[in-house]
Amino acid sequence: MNAPLQPTSLQDVLALAAHHAVTSRSEGGDLHPAAGVEQLRALFDIPLDTTPRDAVAVLAELVEAAKPGLSATTAPGFLSWVIGGSHPAGVAADWLTSAWGQNAAIYQCAPSAAVAEEVASKWLLELLTLPSDCSVGFTTGATMAAFTCLSTARLAIFDRLGIRIEGCGLAGAPPMEIFIGEDAHVTNFAALRYLGFGSDHIRRIACNDAGTFELPALASAMEDSTAAAKIVIGQAGQMISGAFDDLTALSRLCREHRAWLHVDGAFGMWVRASERLRYLAQGAELADSWSVDGHKWLQLPYDCGFAITRHAQYHRRAMTMDASYLTRDERDGRHPSDYVPELSRRARGFPAWVMMQVLGRDGVGQMVERHCAAASALAARIAGIDGVELCHEATINQLALRFTGLDDAQGDALTRTMTDRLNATGRHFLKTALWRGRTIMRVSIMGHETDAEAVVGLARDIEALCREHAAAANAPLPATIET
Ligand SMILES: Cc1ncc(COP(=O)(O)O)c(C=O)c1O
Repeated sequence: MNAPLQPTSLQDVLALAAHHAVTSRSEGGDLHPAAGVEQLRALFDIPLDTTPRDAVAVLAELVEAAKPGLSATTAPGFLSWVIGGSHPAGVAADWLTSAWGQNAAIYQCAPSAAVAEEVASKWLLELLTLPSDCSVGFTTGATMAAFTCLSTARLAIFDRLGIRIEGCGLAGAPPMEIFIGEDAHVTNFAALRYLGFGSDHIRRIACNDAGTFELPALASAMEDSTAAAKIVIGQAGQMISGAFDDLTALSRLCREHRAWLHVDGAFGMWVRASERLRYLAQGAELADSWSVDGHKWLQLPYDCGFAITRHAQYHRRAMTMDASYLTRDERDGRHPSDYVPELSRRARGFPAWVMMQVLGRDGVGQMVERHCAAASALAARIAGIDGVELCHEATINQLALRFTGLDDAQGDALTRTMTDRLNATGRHFLKTALWRGRTIMRVSIMGHETDAEAVVGLARDIEALCREHAAAANAPLPATIET
């Protein structure tokens, strides 16, 4: 039989975890994993023992197996996708969350976790300058936040049309049309799919160069629509360009057509924590719901997202589970699972509460400003380098670069090669993507340790590569790309 952990081994196993965590964070580690998949499989795929093993020994083996496959996402040179810096204070709070073993499902199961979420929700709405009576669900990320908000939207819109979706389901409801930009984040399309909205009812609207709605195209599609039920999904922070929809105009259109406005603000909504940058997401406060990530600009460790709605009653109605064994009492505080799709769940309110205190009301905005200033500085340096171009204006922290070739195909190949070479320096972690059919190198400045200093090194390396390439070609590269 499994013997319970003795206090000494409890001490040993947690101390070992703390030791390795401190070592890995202070040494920084490699940006690029050293091992390939076969090597990692060989390291992890050890025989499963039939008898219990010493936890300290197993944990030490985990460290050895995992180390070669870790990438230092929290280091300043990690500039790929849109990944926050997993702040040590958030990590520490997350450890306590695990150690306390709280199941933040219902109040009676985890009163402190429930109240921490309640207070963290209040602070979150203050930081994002959203109405204080909005409801907040703590999800795994923006994907599930969008799922939660859109599920609330589905219920509310049909309810207002006199259709009780809980009874008839989608099969018994009239068609709902969803209006979404072609360049919206793929997770919104996934959330719609999970909710039973097929592509026949999703109107993909043309976007401008920055990847946000062409407003006339959206307006005319909404005008043409005969559906009584409509949702518009706008963007606060397009994933490639960082650009913002005109959210005031979107909200006006939605009012005219009695449509629900959801804003995907996974990272961009955080500009509202900065007095200087808030104007970019102006009008967001007029929306019906928002999806925001905590593991992006709030620097929380994975995972944490926020599903925020202006319609608390519908939010709860869409998500609440009820059963006699899920004990509720009128003296209880808020039940965290009333706002999310899961019952048993991590107490995400603890690390969120800690990070908002640690960064402070002004600190969040200042960090966002610092990252955006670093992106602008990098954009300015890029503008002065022959052989590389910026594919859009630097709105916030996101940049897309392209190395210029004689034609599109050569530019694509060069961009991939240059990205590989920058990665090979070990100083940067960068990835490519396709933008308007051409290969780009994405730069996302988001980790709390990343600042202007860190990106100057990238600019220097890009400049050196371009110079080297031009010399090898024995001719300067064209300064701009033909369009
Ligand atoms: C704009 C945007 N929306 C949604 C998401 C999905 O967020 P998550 O991966 O936290 O579910 C991301 C992720 O980077 C994003 O950038």
